[in-house]
Amino acid sequence: MINIALPKGRLGDRTYSMMAAAGYDCPAILEKNRKLTFENPEKGIRYFWVKPSDVSIYVERGAADIGVCGEDILLEYEPEVYELLDLGIGKCRMCVAGPKDFYDNEDRTLRIATKFPHIAGAFYEKKGRDIDIIHLNGSIEIAPILKLSDVIVDIVETGNTLRENNLDVLETVVPISARLISNKISFQFRHEEILRIRDGLAKLVGSDEDLKVIKLEH
Ligand code: PRP
Repeated sequence: MINIALPKGRLGDRTYSMMAAAGYDCPAILEKNRKLTFENPEKGIRYFWVKPSDVSIYVERGAADIGVCGEDILLEYEPEVYELLDLGIGKCRMCVAGPKDFYDNEDRTLRIATKFPHIAGAFYEKKGRDIDIIHLNGSIEIAPILKLSDVIVDIVETGNTLRENNLDVLETVVPISARLISNKISFQFRHEEILRIRDGLAKLVGSDEDLKVIKLEH
C-alpha cells in the first residue's frame, strides 16, 4: 500500500478529485463515517485526512509515502521531503497586508503578526528592515485592527477576509499552490509506484476547470 496524506478541507477535496480522475479512486472515502483511513487494496493505496499543516510532518517521517500540501507549508517548515509536482490547485498568495492608509515609518520597528514567522522573517531580512514578529495561530486579520501589529503576513485567496476588515494587500511575498511531496526513502524504494501516481496527476495539471470536484466529509 502507498500511504497518502490528504489535507482536510477544500484543498483535500480537489486533491482527492484529481487522484480519482488519475485512476486512484477509493469508494470507501465517500462513506459517511468517522473513519480516518480509507483503502482501495486493488489500487494499492490508503488515504488519510490530516490537518493541512501536518501533511509534511507525516511525509517527512515516513508515516505517509506521499502527500499534498500548500507551498506555504514547505517554505515555512522546510521539511526534508521531495517536491514532485506543482498540482496547479489551491492557488493563492502570501502577502503583506495592512490598513488601507498604512505608511511604513522606517525609523520604527515594524510589528508583523503572522502564522508564518520564517517566511515573514526571511522576506524582511532581505530588505534589511527591523521587525518584531508576533506569532499567532489564526484570525491574523484582527491584529492590525486591534493595533497588536502594524501589518500582517498571511495567505490571500479571494481577498474577501481583507476587504471585509478594511485591510489591503501592500506587497506580494510569494505566489502559492499545492504540491505533491514524497518521503525520501519511499521515493527510493517505491520509485515506480510513486512516479506512476505523479505522472497520472501531471496529465491533469492545468485542466482544473474541467475537474469535477467531489465534496467529501472530513
Ligand atoms: C486563511 C488566511 C486568511 C484567509 C484568506 O485563513 O489566513 O485569513 O484564509 O482567504 P480569502 O482571501 O479568500 O478571504 P483560514 O481560513 O485558514 O483561517 P485562520 O484564520 O484560522 O488562519
